[in-house]
Formats: sequence, structure tokens, C-alpha cells
Amino acid sequence: MDLSTTYLGLALAHPFMAGASPLSDQLDVVRRLEDGGAAAVVLRSLFEEQITFHTGGKIRQRDPNEAEFAAALAHFPDADAYSLTPDGYLEHLRRVKAAVSIPVMASLNGTTSEAWIRFAARLPEAGADAVEINMYDVISDPRRSALAVETELRDLVLELKRAVRIPIAMKLSPYYTAVGHLAHRLDEACVDGLVLFNRFYQPDIDLTTMTIGPRLELSSSAELPLRLQWIALLHGRVRASLALSGGVSQPADGIKAVLAGADAVQMVSAVLRDGPSKFAAMRDGLRAFMNERGFTSVAQMKGHVSFANAEDPMAFQRAHYIRTLQSWKLAPDAA
Ligand SMILES: Cc1cc2nc3c(=O)[nH]c(=O)nc-3n(C[C@H](O)[C@H](O)[C@H](O)COP(=O)(O)O)c2cc1C
Repeated sequence: MDLSTTYLGLALAHPFMAGASPLSDQLDVVRRLEDGGAAAVVLRSLFEEQITFHTGGKIRQRDPNEAEFAAALAHFPDADAYSLTPDGYLEHLRRVKAAVSIPVMASLNGTTSEAWIRFAARLPEAGADAVEINMYDVISDPRRSALAVETELRDLVLELKRAVRIPIAMKLSPYYTAVGHLAHRLDEACVDGLVLFNRFYQPDIDLTTMTIGPRLELSSSAELPLRLQWIALLHGRVRASLALSGGVSQPADGIKAVLAGADAVQMVSAVLRDGPSKFAAMRDGLRAFMNERGFTSVAQMKGHVSFANAEDPMAFQRAHYIRTLQSWKLAPDAA
């Protein structure tokens, strides 16, 4: 049985890989991920402002020491709050690459085109097999239009493709008006892969202090359907590889991801919760399912239930909503 898959042009032993996170901060943990069965690993993100601040003393083209910009930049953490400097990141990447034999991907978190693109061009020297760009940005300015935001993303891919000679994956958020159209525009710009989706860390209100603060909770399988839907809608309709990220916590979730059409399945929360051997459990669960259902390769199984191949493609769209509504019942008042 052939569990191998190709993601971003890289050969992976099976689809299950470690997503971007601090899991890859320590060499011994990265080795444990490989021993636990991870097919590849993405390092945690290096942030655009870390790079621009270290290379030119600026954040988003502004000097944080100038009084007029101080307020606008106050929400960015101090440079030493981030775990690695840009050079430290490259050094860590080199060490990780030397420590394991699975593909190692770097991750950059940025949105504007600046010095960090030049930094991205240095990643291959340090051994990165690919780079993932996390587009995490909350568009809080009500004057910025969806079209303008998406065009900037497309331009960013064009710029990165010119500067960086390893495959580039874009990690997107689900909060675009027309996710499919954006995926197509990035695909036309020759992005090598799309990671669906980033998980937003939405701030919460503390009722005791009545202040707003960060909230970080690990995911559950409840977050999977949104990802499955978009992987299934895009499979076979874009040239770029597709990775699913978010809500994969048990073998059944991984099997669904492959059936929807994912080339790779990234995991973070479940590994933090259950340990590195989760990858082997995912791989073995996939193998058992394939055996039972008569699939001989992941390539054959991939996208079996995608929009293009499903028996009932309308299930991915709105039509089923009405049918679903018919099954709801109102509970009696709680005592
Ligand atoms: C503690 C933690 C740190 C993370 N750090 C990063 C990061 O540096 N860059 C990034 O793109 N995503 C980061 N993520 C997001 C994960 O890569 C992933 O997209 C998200 O957790 C959804 O996958 P999961 O449901 O398997 O956890 C982080 C997630 C967690 C839980």
C-alpha cells in the first residue's frame, strides 16, 4: 500500500505533518516528532516586524522611536519578546535540517512587501525545503476593500516567487469574501501550495478586569468541517498543492481530509495534547481505512469526496442547509 504523497513538489512518506508552532523550537522535540512519525515539519513563524526591525530599525516602514508612530506601533511586542532573531532563525533552521531527514519548512508571518522578502530569499541557504507564508492580518481599517487586500496578497506571491527559489505555500484565513477566487488568483501567480486555514486567536474580554486580552485554546474536530469544505471545493480546480490545517485530532479527521483532497494534513493541537506518536496513529488509521475500503494508494484516494468527484457535490454548497434545518428540535427549558 502506498501512503506517500507529494506536497509542494516534495515527497512525503504520508500526509501527516507538524504544522507551524513552537513544537519545532527544540531540536530534541523535532527529533521526537520525526520518531513519532511526522512526515514533515514547519517551524514556528518568524514575524515580518522582527525582520524589518532588525534589518532597518523599522516596523511597517515606520520608526518605532518616532513619537508620531509610537502609538500606532505600540501593540507590536518588543523585539526581545520574540524567541528568535532573524539570524537566530536561520541558524535554528540549519540545525533542525541537520537533525532530521524529513522535509523542513520555514514559516514567515507577514503581509507587506519589505525587507522580509529579501530575508525569505536566504531561507534556502539555511536548508529550508519550502516556506510557508502566514497571511495573518486583521484588516481593521474599514476603508480597505476586499479587492485591495486580495490584490496585495497576489502581488506578494508574485514578488516572493521572483525572490525565493524554494516552493512557497500561503496559509490563508477563511475570512475572505470569495475564498475560491482568491485561491485562483494566488494559483495564477504560481503559488506552490495553499494551507487552509489559519486559526485566528481571537481576543476575549475578561469580566473581572473588563480588559481585552489574548486567548489561546487548542482546537477540536469541530473546526474541521470548514476546512474540509474548502479543500473539497478547491481540489482539482487549482494547480497548487493543498494542505489542511485546523481541527485534525483523530485518524478519522485525517482520513476525511485526504478524501476531501488534501495533499498534506498539518497538525498542532492534537500533537501538543497527545504527543508525537499521534502521527504514527494517524498514519496507521489511514492505512487501516484504505485496506478496508480497497484503496491501494493515497493518490487514488485523494479527492474521492471532493466537489469535482463527490456523488452529491451540492452537499458542499447551500442546498443542504434547508434539509439540515428540518432535523432541529427545541430542547425543554433547563431546570
Ligand atoms: C501554540 C501554537 C503556536 C502556533 N504558532 C504558529 C506560528 O508560529 N505560525 C503559524 O503559521 N501558525 C501557528 N500556529 C497555528 C497552527 O500552525 C495551526 O494552523 C492551528 O493551530 C490549527 O491547527 P490545529 O488544529 O492542528 O492546532 C500555532 C498554533 C498553536 C496552538
